[in-house]
Amino acid sequence: MFALPRVLAFLSILTFALPGSAQSILEGDRSVPVEARNGMVVTSHYLATDEALKVLEAGGNAVDAAVTAAFALAVTQPRSGNIGGGGFMLISSEKTGEVNAIDYRERAPAAATRDMYLNEQGEVDEKLSRFSDKAAGVPGTVAGLALALEKYGTISLAEALAPAIKLAEEGFVVPPRFSEGIRERALLLGVFESSRKVFFKPDGGFYEPGDLFVQKDLAATLRRIAEQGVKGFYEGQTADLIVAEMQRGGGLITLDDLKNYQPEIRKPVHGTYRGHDVYSMSPPSSGGTHVVQILNILEGYPLAESGLNSAKTIHLMAEAMKRAYADRSQYLGDTDFVQVPLKGLTSKDYADELRAHIDLGKATPSAEIRPGNPAPYESNETTHFSIVDKYGNAVSNTYTINFSYGSHIVVDGAGFLLNNEMDDFSAKPGVPNAYGLIGGEANKIEPNKRMLSSMSPTIVKKDGKNFIVTGSPGGSRIITTTLQVLINVIDHHLNIQAAVNAPRVHHQWLPDEIRIEQGISPDTIALLRGMGHTVEQKAAMGAIQSIMVGEDGVFYGGADPRRSTSSAKGY
Ligand code: DON
Repeated sequence: MFALPRVLAFLSILTFALPGSAQSILEGDRSVPVEARNGMVVTSHYLATDEALKVLEAGGNAVDAAVTAAFALAVTQPRSGNIGGGGFMLISSEKTGEVNAIDYRERAPAAATRDMYLNEQGEVDEKLSRFSDKAAGVPGTVAGLALALEKYGTISLAEALAPAIKLAEEGFVVPPRFSEGIRERALLLGVFESSRKVFFKPDGGFYEPGDLFVQKDLAATLRRIAEQGVKGFYEGQTADLIVAEMQRGGGLITLDDLKNYQPEIRKPVHGTYRGHDVYSMSPPSSGGTHVVQILNILEGYPLAESGLNSAKTIHLMAEAMKRAYADRSQYLGDTDFVQVPLKGLTSKDYADELRAHIDLGKATPSAEIRPGNPAPYESNETTHFSIVDKYGNAVSNTYTINFSYGSHIVVDGAGFLLNNEMDDFSAKPGVPNAYGLIGGEANKIEPNKRMLSSMSPTIVKKDGKNFIVTGSPGGSRIITTTLQVLINVIDHHLNIQAAVNAPRVHHQWLPDEIRIEQGISPDTIALLRGMGHTVEQKAAMGAIQSIMVGEDGVFYGGADPRRSTSSAKGY
């Protein structure tokens, strides 16, 4: 049974706005890329950037720096940096020529059932799938980061954790964005006593910019990992605290679920675009599949000629995007459980077929688009950072607890937030999740299955060399945000910072609208409406932290000004 305050929280959730805040695209002052020759780190928080850069400067590789950054973000940016969630890491080594992916996505607890979020009327109970202990999947972050380090790193887990432990133990000075984030979610965070204890001052007041934010419980949790390895999280005291939280709040995660969690090393999706090799995340993310699918469709059009964000270019992008998202709704899910026609979806032939139905001057209404017919099955607030080192390694990592602050529930005594990733499953066929994404059978809830993601950590190579390293948060908008940075560099020849800054557009099939950011001209919008598109300007999309490696070997970092704490630094 939930305690009374939790019931009150659920009432307040009824008025809860969906993820995505109203940050201005004009935030920050970043108009030129940061340049360096030996290493580059781009993250959404300057303290994480600083700690990762120190690792590179001391001779560590990009994976060492990545794991250090991920733990530092779990302390300094708890709205999305995490140990209570999961994610994906792409690692490219120029030396071996390989690009590998670590899948540390959360899994459904063993007791999860297909209809666990349906009420007596058969409707999806969103408060249960989003703001309850039942919303949490089994966290994968600690196991994933430890695996990355063990396989591809050179420093110990304790060394990678040391800066995070110090930041949690001694505290860090709160920047305005941290303070604003808590205020925005105060209603929800404030209802859970364990979250109140962490995110509000003892007198109930807010942490203001300039205040010191100390997290003793989190420091102790991180220290247990440093001392005992992954067992320090998935077994023993931390596991007991997670299970105690589940018992208090009606959640499903058990000691066995935690003990059985395993990250996977996967082959990324590979495609080509105008002579470049594109690697991005494979299932259980839909990201890589659809980045490649949309690029394949767009490759048939001279986008450089039609120009950046012209009506013609946006029309073609929107038409390609909506067809890919229609396929997503039908075909994508965890390939450990369902067959996904990956080769078909990412083939050039299928893209030709889809392109043939795109009218150059007129929008196809989404109602007329159904998931297509790719070749049959072959048998068989998230945050992103990008890092490159002087050894030819590149890391592209996106991890998440789903919403900003996830389920908003801190594991009492352990000091970290639980994810609400279970909402990324399709709770009922045809009913959209928090990002408006529709899913079906392939993404239904099953015990131990990974919920479908849109996270698209991406590495583009040119002539065998790392060229673009990028990725973003933004829910359903991740795929299109990532895609546009690639197109902005490859087709429109923007430098990486300009490519990151440029106003973005998004279409996800349903709803049938082109969502645009501030900065698309009224003339363009009028032309798009004339072609039959619905165009809506909404909040800024994504926070894409990117690196481009020049032909001269110089690293160019582009941090996204849509987050005031974003930072690119090199040496
Ligand atoms: O895995 C996914 O696709 C989502 N859970 C990501 C959520 C997200 O990006 C929220 N951040 N803005």
